[in-house]
Amino acid sequence: MPAPIFNRRVSAIEESITLAVTAKASEMKSKGIDVVSMSAGEPDFDTPDHIKYAAIKAITEGFTKYTPVGGTMELRKAVAEKFARENGLTYAANQTLVSIGGKHSCYLAVAALVDDGDEVLIPAPYWVSYPDMVLLAGGKPVIMETSTATGLKITPDQLRKAITPKTKMIIINSPSNPSGAVYTKDELIALGDVLKGTGVFVLSDEIYEHLIYEGEHHSIAAVVPELHEQTIVANGVAKAYAMTGWRIGYAAGPKSVIGAMAKIQSQQTSNAVSISQKATLAALTGPQDHLVPWKEEYRTRRNYIVERLNAIPGVLCPKPAGAFYVFPDVSSFYGKSFGGRVIEDSVALTDYLLEEFHVACVPGSGFGAPRHIRLSYATSMAAITKAMDRIEKGLTALS
Ligand SMILES: Cc1ncc(COP(=O)(O)O)c(C=O)c1O
Repeated sequence: MPAPIFNRRVSAIEESITLAVTAKASEMKSKGIDVVSMSAGEPDFDTPDHIKYAAIKAITEGFTKYTPVGGTMELRKAVAEKFARENGLTYAANQTLVSIGGKHSCYLAVAALVDDGDEVLIPAPYWVSYPDMVLLAGGKPVIMETSTATGLKITPDQLRKAITPKTKMIIINSPSNPSGAVYTKDELIALGDVLKGTGVFVLSDEIYEHLIYEGEHHSIAAVVPELHEQTIVANGVAKAYAMTGWRIGYAAGPKSVIGAMAKIQSQQTSNAVSISQKATLAALTGPQDHLVPWKEEYRTRRNYIVERLNAIPGVLCPKPAGAFYVFPDVSSFYGKSFGGRVIEDSVALTDYLLEEFHVACVPGSGFGAPRHIRLSYATSMAAITKAMDRIEKGLTALS
């Protein structure tokens, strides 16, 4: 049988590089190799107990059937209340949608709005999935380059120049995966001033909002009220509640857009898991104090890792304000070699670190920033210390 010819949109996309690196590291581990993984964007903390109990209760009480496609009304109300309480954003419950992870929420927003040939502005470095989501919808990702001079953030001038009659959407992700950059209120207002009145939709992915170590989180539609009707806010419980496996994300936005997203979901996946919805209700409405020690721990790890990286000659690692990643510029090592092995780029460097020194990091090329690599510090201090020793050894061995 000849090789299948795949849908052209599927052929245009790549497997998520983060998941690919994580899989390669797991495969090495399964062979008994002591690999330290700095690749996964997954909190090493456990889901808080009160959330787990809510799920157990849901099971024992038989809350195990289909729910309405967009989520239970009690959860959608809780989502609307969360946006009002934490973000200063007003939505009715029917302007919210519960989906199967923050990734799904983002994908649905793109799928609902982006048509063949539409341009979507994506500031680089970007989360690996955004360009591929746009390609799957038939749109054209327009990558906006940034530099360390602006903290890896786009400027209003740059945005003004990037908007064309074909621009349908911009994706803003603050705090950012992979850079950890956080847009200030003033920066969001300045970007909003360019966007308001343009009809360009904003997809604001705020999944790391609770993981900020300097400054504070602002939602663009809250600080630029004129954008409320052209913004879809996507969020989820994976990062703030260590609920990656429960697969719940949510979004809010104009009723018509949320309706279109729900329509796709109704034909694609139906509702998110009923039990996870109960757990999410407990997460959003219950105590939030787990975040205090988690954030302190992340901050300690971040400070340590940044100090260790900057102590290696040739590494430039700004201190990220949020999320749980560091994103050092390692381009000074490109062109160097070790035992005949030449390090041409970020992929070659992360392969080298994994194969020779057994530490898994993600190449920056997957995030549209090939001078960099991404290291996640959502792992124990013991693992981080070990990883840093190995990275230091690996990078200093290059000449
Ligand atoms: C920027 C960003 N958005 C969304 C997500 C999606 O998270 P999930 O689908 O696990 O809720 C992630 C996960 O890594 C992320 O980094």
